[in-house]
Amino acid sequence: MLDVCDVAFHRTQPPAARERSRSRVELDRTRIVVEDGAVVACSGAWTRTVSVPGGAALPMAGVTLVSVLPTHRRRGLLSAMMAAQLADARDRGEPLAGLWASEGAIYGRFGFGPATRTRRTAIARGVPLRTPPTAADGPVRLVATADAHPLLAPLHDRLRADRAGVVSRTASWWRQRILLDEPPGGEHSALHVALHADGYAIYRVVAAGDTTPAAAPTEVVVRVPELVALTPASRRALLGFLTSIDLATRVELHERPVDDELGLLVAAPQDLRVLHEADALWLRILDLPALVAARSWAADAALVLEVGSDDPALAGRWRLEVGPDGGAATRVADAADLVLRDRDLASIALGGTSPIALLDAGLADERRTGATAALDAAARTPRAPWTIDVF
Ligand SMILES: CC(C)(COP(=O)(O)OP(=O)(O)OC[C@H]1O[C@@H](n2cnc3c(N)ncnc32)[C@H](O)[C@@H]1OP(=O)(O)O)[C@@H](O)C(=O)NCCC(=O)NCCS
Repeated sequence: MLDVCDVAFHRTQPPAARERSRSRVELDRTRIVVEDGAVVACSGAWTRTVSVPGGAALPMAGVTLVSVLPTHRRRGLLSAMMAAQLADARDRGEPLAGLWASEGAIYGRFGFGPATRTRRTAIARGVPLRTPPTAADGPVRLVATADAHPLLAPLHDRLRADRAGVVSRTASWWRQRILLDEPPGGEHSALHVALHADGYAIYRVVAAGDTTPAAAPTEVVVRVPELVALTPASRRALLGFLTSIDLATRVELHERPVDDELGLLVAAPQDLRVLHEADALWLRILDLPALVAARSWAADAALVLEVGSDDPALAGRWRLEVGPDGGAATRVADAADLVLRDRDLASIALGGTSPIALLDAGLADERRTGATAALDAAARTPRAPWTIDVF
């Protein structure tokens, strides 16, 4: 099965990486398609939760390993596997399924919509911060990657309460994916963990560009796959630390939220450059009443929502009654105030896309004036949803 994944994703995994992949597979939620005794397609899922607005964690099937051999593509194998995968998730009582899409055209037809976005940003070494860190912000210390998991996990849990879209982690995910010190090749440092009382940064210093001895100057990049800082002091301390590492030329921050407060911390806004922005977690709603009851709502709204979907458990009209005291979705036969596709409803589920933007894009059909604005005000979240883990 993992051979099929390698062919589909155009990669070769070294034996150690293959063994780690093998050990993480949840066999009881993995599907293969066999033809003449050979595997030709597969898909799987991780058993996870995802944080929703307000800080609750909802069970989510993290769909992964989706692969069809190039000789067997476009015959409906993915469609069949996805139907089985979603039915299985629903049987397990998971209100959501989520995935990272390799190509944007694949998953909308199955009711998935992009719910979070991610950014890669760069800051030159030594740029002034608006409020430079002081001793009162507390120290940053380096901890060994082997000791880091128990120190970082509670901070990651605090992040999950603060931000929607953050996916839960298992111990092996921490060990094999987040804190694995496997050198990427070329000139590079070990993986380092910088710890503050209220945050941490995982980073590696790498030489980028031409690294032959004759070539100068070389770009030396502090590459930060993960920076979690939960207080203003920890943001100042960790950003100040990363931007002042000797011999480096710049800091590159991966998987940042689109409303990253670090952009406000640099003295000149243009000092933080956005290198790349893309869709991150795609969500599929399996149980609308469970989602509506679990997430928080910023304002009162009452409307009849009609959901367009191939999934009979989601399609149809729902009365949404939501507000700061909670929310409920119940099936009704009344006329619709607002009509949306399932994939677009998934996009607004965590606050990452605004209903008004969907209306402006012609993707929502408003049948009662004001219904979209009411849903928009209710679904708003103080912070943009954020997904760090790519799976
Ligand atoms: C993406 C992939 C899994 C699709 O599998 P598949 O078995 O060919 O998909 P299906 O035959 O079930 O396709 C169902 C529909 O989706 C469309 N579709 C599938 N993959 C698509 C793609 N990459 N881009 C656009 N449309 C796509 C098909 O055309 C078909 O449309 P139709 O019903 O209108 O005819 C397969 O091409 C693959 O393994 N790709 C490489 C690895 C990869 O990207 N995996 C996804 C990881 S997130």
